[in-house]
Amino acid sequence: MHLKIGKDLDLARRLIMDGELVAIPTETVYGLAANAFNEEAVARIFEVKKRPKFDPLIVHCAHLQAAAELAKEWPEPLQQLAEKFWPGPLTLVVEKQDKIPDLVTAGLPTVGLRVPAHPLTLDLLYILDVPLAAPSANPFTYVSPTTPFHVLQQLGDDIPYILDGEACTVGIESTIVRYNGKAIEILRLGGLSTESIAETVDCEVLVKSGENGQNVPGSFKKHYSNSKRIVLFENGELLPRAGKNEAILFFNKPANMPENSRWFYLTENNDTHVAAAQLFGKLRELDQPEIETIYIEKAPATGLGPAINERLGRAAHQ
Ligand code: TXA
Ligand code: MG
Repeated sequence: MHLKIGKDLDLARRLIMDGELVAIPTETVYGLAANAFNEEAVARIFEVKKRPKFDPLIVHCAHLQAAAELAKEWPEPLQQLAEKFWPGPLTLVVEKQDKIPDLVTAGLPTVGLRVPAHPLTLDLLYILDVPLAAPSANPFTYVSPTTPFHVLQQLGDDIPYILDGEACTVGIESTIVRYNGKAIEILRLGGLSTESIAETVDCEVLVKSGENGQNVPGSFKKHYSNSKRIVLFENGELLPRAGKNEAILFFNKPANMPENSRWFYLTENNDTHVAAAQLFGKLRELDQPEIETIYIEKAPATGLGPAINERLGRAAHQ
């Protein structure tokens, strides 16, 4: 019997090659990984997450070349982004090679590819000769996990092993983009800011947020939700003291934090990257029986602020 959480790469490799699931750390959130070429193992991901089969998975690769080998075409602007930001919080949607099972891509002709920036998971990908299909390691519609303990709490009974890479440094999921032949389209805002993408490519960059703030299959209005009533308020707008059974989550630490209050915050110096790294952990922390309503201050509109607000919007959806 081995421990559920650990840093044993050889065990993780053996489990993956035996068709088992392993939770893996990435810089964005923890993933629930299977051998992307093993359909039975991939089917188990959907089962454990209770995820609808029409929601495709991201395929994680050890390096750019391994990713490019899974694609039918590799447009120049995507190459520029991959060279600059991989390993990192960026997923590229490209036409897939036939060797990627249709189950992984929910029958789409395209696949989302990413080289994650986590040393342990990169080491695992290097010792495997297969890529890893992995969605975020949370039950469908719940907040994504950013520590191994979040995964243990929710999926611990269903999976044999959680690779312990400690807390995720980015804390929100990757930015998903595709190239439409003329422009880069951002399909999901995420851990890489729109500004960083625009600075890198010569073509136009379009934020294609759909009705739900995301333009990817399997994007639901309700997501990132804990079980509480969540009410958003504008950045800078002041709220009265939180009443009984209420909590306030400020974006930035307020100047006069009362002691022992139900006031919480995401950053002390208005840093959207720090706030992103704190966000999902705080939403879990505030998911307590005594709290009924959480007032949450929106992030400013720069850096990772829009990606944070997109997630808050859906966490607040009843
Ligand atoms: O940071 C991340 O992206 C994390 C870590 C584990 O890598 N993964 C993640 O996976 O957030 P998941 O399954 O929770 O979200 C993946 C999103 C889904 O909404 C899916 O619709 C979209 O990626 N996606 C996957 N393949 C796609 C494709 N071919 N075209 C458009 N969207 C795609
Ligand atoms: Mg997810």
